[in-house]
Amino acid sequence: MDGWLLDGTAAPMLPISDRGLQYGDGLFETIAVRSGTPRFLDRHIARLEAGLQALGFAAQPGAAPISPSLTETLSQVASEVARVASGRSAGVAKVIVTRGSADRGYRPPRIPQLRRLVGWFPSTPPPRHYYVDGVELRVCSTPASSNPATAGHKTLCRLDQVLACAEWDDPDTAEGLMLDTNGHIVGGTMSNFFCLRNDRLLTPALNTCGIAGIMRAVVLEQAAAAGLATRLVDLTLDELRDDDELFLTNSQFGIWPVRSLAGRGRRVGPRTRDLMSRLAAVGVEECAL
Ligand SMILES: Cc1ncc(COP(=O)(O)O)c(C=O)c1O
Repeated sequence: MDGWLLDGTAAPMLPISDRGLQYGDGLFETIAVRSGTPRFLDRHIARLEAGLQALGFAAQPGAAPISPSLTETLSQVASEVARVASGRSAGVAKVIVTRGSADRGYRPPRIPQLRRLVGWFPSTPPPRHYYVDGVELRVCSTPASSNPATAGHKTLCRLDQVLACAEWDDPDTAEGLMLDTNGHIVGGTMSNFFCLRNDRLLTPALNTCGIAGIMRAVVLEQAAAAGLATRLVDLTLDELRDDDELFLTNSQFGIWPVRSLAGRGRRVGPRTRDLMSRLAAVGVEECAL
């Protein structure tokens, strides 16, 4: 199957009244597929469920239950992801769930009819030197918007990232780092940010903005298993030290060590390499060096 499934049906047309299109009223997931298997599918479904709950996609208090229910929607998403992934060697399964169509106006319908889209995209692996030598990371001037109500969730509202990515098109710069309006590091435009300092692994807390990445969670678990103390912190650029090891994570690529930040060289160190080999051992094989 190529293209998108809309509520399970191929060759779809999305109604213009869809609230995902009109207001960004929805969530998405991008799931890496390797050898026909969606990687960390359960984690993606759990994050989607948490986002749907946080946005109030379940029945409003006192309203009739929605149909399909959240549980039904999530199990349909999981089986449609498996369907688009089947027989594929490598690529991305993208899931979008919106609050469906409604009358004009922001107010959400009391009984939303959730709409789900599941699409397939082939992907080419990132350059090997991103893993071996590390990536160049720039600092974006577009700030990340803060909103504790949506922080951590993968909502469709991604205009901050769109504007940040428009700031550069030098192919040698793999990623851009985004700060909030107080100068705290949030993460890359499409990735989470980590700083390894001595025996501690630091990553932004994401209480007010950013996305709590699937690979971020896997890395935090692997770091704890490796005996590193993990800390969710507020960190500014000035607080980074010269001998910190920096790296980025994303569910598509695993870990990319950072070899330069804002034009200044950084060292790619052994503890990052150790975490990469731990990731490779739990199925993120592109991190094997
Ligand atoms: C803004 C942002 N932060 C973090 C991530 C990493 O999340 P994940 O590890 O789930 O891919 C992404 C992924 O697209 C992202 O867009």
